[in-house]
Amino acid sequence: MFQKLAVAAGLMAALIACAPKKETGSQEWKKQSFGKTASGEEVELYTLANSRGMEAGVITYGAIVTSLKVPDAKGGIVDVALGFDTLEGYILGPDPYFGAIVGRYGNRIAKGRFSLGGVEYKLAVNNGANALHGGLRGFDKQVWKAKPAGQSLELTYVSKDGEEGYPGTLTATVAYTVTEQNELRIEYSALTDKETVLNLTNHTYFNLAGQGEGDILGHIVTINADRFTPVDAGLIPTGELRSVERTAFDFRQPIAIGERVNAAEEQIKLGKGYDHNYVLNGAGGGLAVAATVTEPKSGRTLQVSTTEPGVQFYTGNFLDGTLKGKGGKVYQQRYGFCLETQHFPDSPNRPEFPSAALKPGARFQSTTVFKFSATPGS
Ligand code: BGC
Repeated sequence: MFQKLAVAAGLMAALIACAPKKETGSQEWKKQSFGKTASGEEVELYTLANSRGMEAGVITYGAIVTSLKVPDAKGGIVDVALGFDTLEGYILGPDPYFGAIVGRYGNRIAKGRFSLGGVEYKLAVNNGANALHGGLRGFDKQVWKAKPAGQSLELTYVSKDGEEGYPGTLTATVAYTVTEQNELRIEYSALTDKETVLNLTNHTYFNLAGQGEGDILGHIVTINADRFTPVDAGLIPTGELRSVERTAFDFRQPIAIGERVNAAEEQIKLGKGYDHNYVLNGAGGGLAVAATVTEPKSGRTLQVSTTEPGVQFYTGNFLDGTLKGKGGKVYQQRYGFCLETQHFPDSPNRPEFPSAALKPGARFQSTTVFKFSATPGS
């Protein structure tokens, strides 16, 4: 009898030791296969969750956030991130960069050229005459190494010296955490062995009514910026830091996206809507609120905080109904918006902008937090 009890107790202890680790108030991460790339690399889907029902799906291909399930005021949980159900969706073009980590340099570098330390570098050009989002095969098209821990996932990608034309071997790490405050926290860090430039961001398209549930024109936006960087016809900053005062770009007071997205203003026409970098007020002072967006019907709110000096506000102007996303939803123009925290586009050619250069021995560090909350809507 005693022996049987001892065996049972031993068995229990073994079972407990094997059970997934659960801290009080937290959930364990989950992992499943998400298929293979054309070259046979395995891609995994990780799900990070908190105890309040928030869940983020992240794949090792492109460190892409494939889903963001967040609670609303009525007790429902809705996926607010655009994306695809399968790896093929992410691999096949045209590439909208849904949910991806964009690098080595997010947004555009004019003519795919810049000089650093007296050397001119020529990048892969993939957007007319310009380089966009890291080139032909940017960080969004690479398989990252994953290290999960609790409610976090750390992803690492080593970009070789000369990849897409960029100098220096860059080791980039992105840590995603789903916190108990219903936040997706993104911590970026990078090291290089030769001076380089970098601009890492996350390209999630949000729709706070739920992905695929219509356009985002009714979403109410506030952006903490007195100035933005106007662009030329190729969407390259002209170098001016223009006041938002009396323009369609003034989001210092909450206003619906749809109010002025088609305003008869040159900059709106050039961007086909909002596709502009905002110069965040008070940048350089640590993590600060960059923008707040509310969807009035669900009462769901997204607050974006960052340590970065800028944010690209993009209203899905180039979505045109050709992409079929999760659950068969068709993504029409303006079905999602992005708030890409970043250094300014084309900074490597604009010494007057905050520097995007990184020297060997220095560690690049940056944090962005997407915080979700919900108040009862109308
Ligand atoms: C850019 C847009 C581009 C979109 C998708 C945004 O970051 O500013 O011009 O179309 O990404 O590539």
